[in-house]
Amino acid sequence: MTASPGKRILLIIGGGIAAYKTLELIRRLRERGISVRAVMTQAAQQFITKLSVESLTETKVFDDLFALTDGSGMGHIELSRDADLLAVAPATADLLAKMAQGLAGDLASTLLLATDKKILAAPAMNLRMWLHPATQRNCAILKADGVSFVGPEIGGMACGEHGPGRMSEPPVILAAIEDMLKHDTRIPLPAGVLEGRRVVVTSGPTHEPIDPVRYIGNRSSGKQGHAIAAAAAAAGADVVLVSGPVALPDPLGVKTLHVETAEEMLKEVEAALPADIFIGVAAVADWRVAKVSPSKIKKDAKQAPSLTLVENPDILAAIGHQSKNRPALVAGFAAESEKLEENARAKLAAKNCDMIVANDVSESSGVFGGESNKVCIFTKAGKESLPLMSKQEVAAHLVAKLAAMLAGSGR
Ligand code: CTP
Repeated sequence: MTASPGKRILLIIGGGIAAYKTLELIRRLRERGISVRAVMTQAAQQFITKLSVESLTETKVFDDLFALTDGSGMGHIELSRDADLLAVAPATADLLAKMAQGLAGDLASTLLLATDKKILAAPAMNLRMWLHPATQRNCAILKADGVSFVGPEIGGMACGEHGPGRMSEPPVILAAIEDMLKHDTRIPLPAGVLEGRRVVVTSGPTHEPIDPVRYIGNRSSGKQGHAIAAAAAAAGADVVLVSGPVALPDPLGVKTLHVETAEEMLKEVEAALPADIFIGVAAVADWRVAKVSPSKIKKDAKQAPSLTLVENPDILAAIGHQSKNRPALVAGFAAESEKLEENARAKLAAKNCDMIVANDVSESSGVFGGESNKVCIFTKAGKESLPLMSKQEVAAHLVAKLAAMLAGSGR
């Protein structure tokens, strides 16, 4: 484990019996050279005192939303801006619910909403509260929003029950914090950077019909493509999303066109041009059935039917090689289960792209259908590896990078 001297943590202490362990966490963080500023909820102060926390952090503890500068010259937004990372320990069911809903009724929840830094939550609660669908739903929302979790552990609880819900021990939380501090902890908010720009995105799988009821498809959920379209819209762009069949809502503020097949997708993408940026995220089926049966193929024949496949148009390559209407930037994904860099670079060249985002889709990676993604971005200028992050965070990074490339291109 590498030390993180000079780093600053904003520690949000929730109201749970595990708060006593947070005192030990503060000591361990400070031993590692990490400075700690603490915020306590009112409930936390029922379990441990402000005096203990102030003694261990050697600084004032904050707990009042309405004491705007709290006598220390620090407004509440600065409290989170000033930190490298926010850690919530114990993260109670109540705090997690507030975070998931974006509530901001007290100082702790306001800081968690107003932050531009990553958040690590260490949940601690009674096992029934932890296993309750509401808590599980809130945690799923938070994970999708990019919040990291450490624990809870399974074990005996202060309430006498046994099960999941114990807060992780301070060394485990410390290790998770130090791991996060190794990477960039800022959440990129590319607000306005694509103002006045037009972006076309493809997302989801395509379904290639075999007969009226069957099709060839793949496991793409569309989560990454939809997140990119949403991030581009949040950055001010006029966005057209051409989506294959997915079980996701249309992203807010995005013109979403629904298609089934690769050929329909290509048609809609071409009709959406001209654009400044094209991002091909869809897992387009490489082949379609040469002759779609107009009626359902019956299984009563002696032999299983044989399907003749023909290659589908490559949408990304078609847009990359456009002579008249080529967007200033063309970006694609490379779903690879082996030889990531070699295959990604080959796609960058063959499809005439400005960026290829390579991700490992081997079964063990959990990328297809999952909430997170670990990608490596290849451009003609170089390569950038991003740590494992939520699909929303990947989207924000890509949009920020494409916006910077577009600004740099002078177009
Ligand atoms: N793509 C596309 N049209 C296709 C196939 C792929 O637009 N018919 C795009 C995808 O949206 C993605 C990129 O091309 O941005 C790479 O997709 P991928 O499945 O990784 O590669 P393929 O080109 O299909 O090559 P292979 O399956 O052999 O790896």
